[in-house]
Amino acid sequence: MKTNTLIIGKGDDIITMILDNLVSKNIVGEITILNNLNLPILSNFEHPLFQISISDSVELFKFEKWILGIYKPELKKKIVENLNLLDNHRFINVIHDDVDISLTSTLGFGCLVNSKTSIAAQTQIGNFVSINRNVSIGHHTIINDFVSINPGCNIAGHTSIGELTTIGMGSQILNNVKIGKNTIIGAGSIVTRDIPDNVVAWGSPCKIIRENG
Ligand SMILES: CC(C)(COP(=O)(O)OP(=O)(O)OC[C@H]1O[C@@H](n2cnc3c(N)ncnc32)[C@H](O)[C@@H]1OP(=O)(O)O)[C@@H](O)C(=O)NCCC(=O)NCCS
Repeated sequence: MKTNTLIIGKGDDIITMILDNLVSKNIVGEITILNNLNLPILSNFEHPLFQISISDSVELFKFEKWILGIYKPELKKKIVENLNLLDNHRFINVIHDDVDISLTSTLGFGCLVNSKTSIAAQTQIGNFVSINRNVSIGHHTIINDFVSINPGCNIAGHTSIGELTTIGMGSQILNNVKIGKNTIIGAGSIVTRDIPDNVVAWGSPCKIIRENG
């Protein structure tokens, strides 16, 4: 299918992941990368199946599909709020082919889910959620809007993660744990107890280190 797609983001490996996945879903055509925040862009970016252009301003509604190509939660929120696009379902999900999502789980819009990730039954994932490689998410879990989950995390069943929170790579979140919003869990943490809003926490067991922001 030939489409006219807008990627809002920057040109690091996230763009490559997005393009590879569009190819496997037979979506090819014109890609425009909108970089209105002047983020660092790979200037020599090329792909055999796409005509790629980079722009710092575009007419948004001329594009059939939009992809939010950003991992940082606060940046994702800032971009969609600045563009006044919070409810716009033109944002598509980019989900790698080998991701395993239970048919009983739900995913919002504007999400990225990278390879070798699995999402078990009855789990709800919000909008603009980014889940990187090799992440396991258990059953009956709630992941709220703008959350980012870095590679290699295991998130057990009946857990919840608040809006705008980042889970650092390789972290383990035990069953029934609730993590608040706008919180950062440092890489390699083992989270055994609830963690509140607006903190940076890490370690095994995970402890609050400081306020976030
Ligand atoms: C939690 C985090 C955001 C803290 O960043 P920061 O505030 O800039 O922390 P610093 O790098 O200044 O480190 C401060 C101290 O905490 C320690 N520290 C930082 N993160 C730690 C972690 N996750 N576990 C244990 N100790 C940690 C550092 O070793 C340093 O100790 P020192 O003062 O004895 O040298 C960051 O360390 C982290 O874990 N980010 C997630 C990274 C990630 O997942 N990347 C994936 C990319 S795809």
